[in-house]
Amino acid sequence: MIALIWAMDENRLIGKDNLLPWHYPKDLQYFKNHTFNQSVLMGDLTYQSLKTYYKTKPLPFKKSYVANINDQDYPDAIHVKDLFQFLKDTQEDIFIIGGKTIYQLSLPYADRLYITYVLQAHEGNVYFPAFDLSKFVLIEKRLEEKLIFSVYERKQP
Ligand SMILES: NC(=O)c1ccc[n+]([C@@H]2O[C@H](COP(=O)([O-])OP(=O)(O)OC[C@H]3O[C@@H](n4cnc5c(N)ncnc54)[C@H](OP(=O)(O)O)[C@@H]3O)[C@@H](O)[C@H]2O)c1
Repeated sequence: MIALIWAMDENRLIGKDNLLPWHYPKDLQYFKNHTFNQSVLMGDLTYQSLKTYYKTKPLPFKKSYVANINDQDYPDAIHVKDLFQFLKDTQEDIFIIGGKTIYQLSLPYADRLYITYVLQAHEGNVYFPAFDLSKFVLIEKRLEEKLIFSVYERKQP
């Protein structure tokens, strides 16, 4: 199962200077609850961003995959050079945890989407690309303060 998990504001903003544009402890907790000890895939820039957050602490995942077109060794992650081959071949349950480029390329392979809608406009410079939810069905929706936690599943053909 391939799941994408992200938070975006009402303009689909997701990032600011390679960091999150906001601080919503409930969303961070939601992210941690879902991805703790799971296998995750992220782009190189998101990996660098997480490393500034975790510093010398180990990443809290079972296995971390990092997509990068350039050859690179990661001390605590597995390098994925060919993202499409990886997404086609993997037998693991994977959470795709960003960023914009990797979300965009992975969306056609997603079985499930965990979208946190931030009910406010923030400032930043990275946006989730326009996308079509018509191939997905909403299976969960929960409102908490200024956030809507929603889960979608791909419709069966
Ligand atoms: N709000 C949220 O939920 C959330 C979650 C995560 C991240 N973010 C934000 O998203 C932003 C980062 O997104 P981003 O798009 O700039 O970077 P990114 O998706 O984290 O990383 C892009 C990386 O993917 C590589 N890549 C591109 N195509 C590939 C392919 N076909 N196969 C393998 N690797 C490939 C690129 O390699 P090259 O450099 O060689 O082209 C680049 O290193 C940050 O602001 C971050 O805070 C937000």
